[in-house]
Amino acid sequence: MIKPIIPVLAGACVLLFGCSDSNDNNNISDPVALCAGTQVQPVRLFLQQLTSESVIVKWRGNADGGAEATSVCFGADMAALPASSETDATVTATGHSEVLLSGLEPDTTYYYSVGGAGAADAAHHFRTAPAAGELPADGNTRILILGDSGVAGKGSPDAGFVLEGGMKYVKNQGDEPVDLFLMLGDNAYNQGTDMEHQLAIFDVYPDLLSTTSLWPTIGNHEMGSFGISTTTSPNDYAIIGDGANGGPDPAPDSPMPYLNIFTLPANGEAGGLASGTEQYYSFDHGNVHIVSLDSQLAIRDADSRATMLQWLKDDLTANTMDWTIVIFHHPPYTMGSHDSDNDLGGIDQPIFAIREEFTPVFEEYGVDLAYAGHSHIYERSYYINGHTGLSATYNAATMAELNDSNLPATGQGDEAYTQIARNGMDDKVVYTVAGNGGQVTVTSPGFPHPANFFSELELGSVVIDVNDSRLEASFVDVDGAVLDSFVMTR
Ligand SMILES: [Fe+2]
Ligand SMILES: [Fe+2]
Repeated sequence: MIKPIIPVLAGACVLLFGCSDSNDNNNISDPVALCAGTQVQPVRLFLQQLTSESVIVKWRGNADGGAEATSVCFGADMAALPASSETDATVTATGHSEVLLSGLEPDTTYYYSVGGAGAADAAHHFRTAPAAGELPADGNTRILILGDSGVAGKGSPDAGFVLEGGMKYVKNQGDEPVDLFLMLGDNAYNQGTDMEHQLAIFDVYPDLLSTTSLWPTIGNHEMGSFGISTTTSPNDYAIIGDGANGGPDPAPDSPMPYLNIFTLPANGEAGGLASGTEQYYSFDHGNVHIVSLDSQLAIRDADSRATMLQWLKDDLTANTMDWTIVIFHHPPYTMGSHDSDNDLGGIDQPIFAIREEFTPVFEEYGVDLAYAGHSHIYERSYYINGHTGLSATYNAATMAELNDSNLPATGQGDEAYTQIARNGMDDKVVYTVAGNGGQVTVTSPGFPHPANFFSELELGSVVIDVNDSRLEASFVDVDGAVLDSFVMTR
């Protein structure tokens, strides 16, 4: 049950010993009662569905071995979280505690205590999204993207190194915090069990997850079966082998841990059009619209695919934000550890469905950038349109934005892309494969894909900085160095 709560306003006076107000005849008001609980450090703690007026705090367990927290207190003053903010958690069938904090002010930092203490520590805070269509006060929205990062579930430290590199870059670029954290699927190898989500996500990114809302998408490894499942329903989630890292989730929840762990906006809770399913969704953050598609389950069934495609068209038609980014797992143009000319006997059929049926919609309906993973490599395309066939059908002269020399424009320097392309249309997209968030493996025989400007087997993350007129997307390596970037203006 979620108690009704009294909103805490940005400038609200919540001092322990009362507040004075020169416009008020009562110079001394009553002391403000504080939350009286004890802060608990959960085993997993993360933020979901951050909007301009609300956020979901979700957790499980107590890292110190004591009782699990049952409520959250929050407020704009870290040292004084008012009792009126205390909100009880609901507990899900698979043992997560969840609280919706609502009535918040836009673009405002709040502090919180899981367990309902009267003060928070500096590690527990979040900043609400700007009002719809607006820029944040600092003028910039910063987005961190990781793909195929879930290797800690199989014993590799490399996802941690990728995060360190990304954070080093963030620090060097004005130290502005990450506003949005996107994951491109294969977030928890090998089989996307609950325990593997713990090892590969909650144990690897605790600082980021307690301060930044996470928005994921479904990869093939989220469906168990060592990533080779071709089934179309979450109810078919299954693992291969003895389940050393856990198995399906217990009834009555879905057997698919991804859907139980994440609380995603199926009903347009964060802007965007309601999809009716947590498998795919959209949301707004300030002036940015983001869509997460399901390229693993819904896309494999003709009826479900048609439903998702129509929802995408309707969502993008209703979208009025300055910038639009789409994320999904299966990349349309890759010659990394997966080959976008090869459907792998059906396992990689979604690569073809994305390319043939979805890229035309991205291009016609104003999408600016698309991010996928699956191939354990970084590959970034030119600014393209109309490439729905195999790699041999790519024709730079007709499909790419061209520079003054009639060569494909790079997106760099004086070849920066413009949202309205030279033909006067907003009909092109930059496609990036960023499946290099935890491992880089091999290239395919056709490497590099001709539609890609930059292709490299190098670990890293993507950081996007965006305001109302300029977007810059950077590929950052484990040392914090930028190996590729492009700029788009509008
Ligand atoms: Fe992967
Ligand atoms: Fe994958």
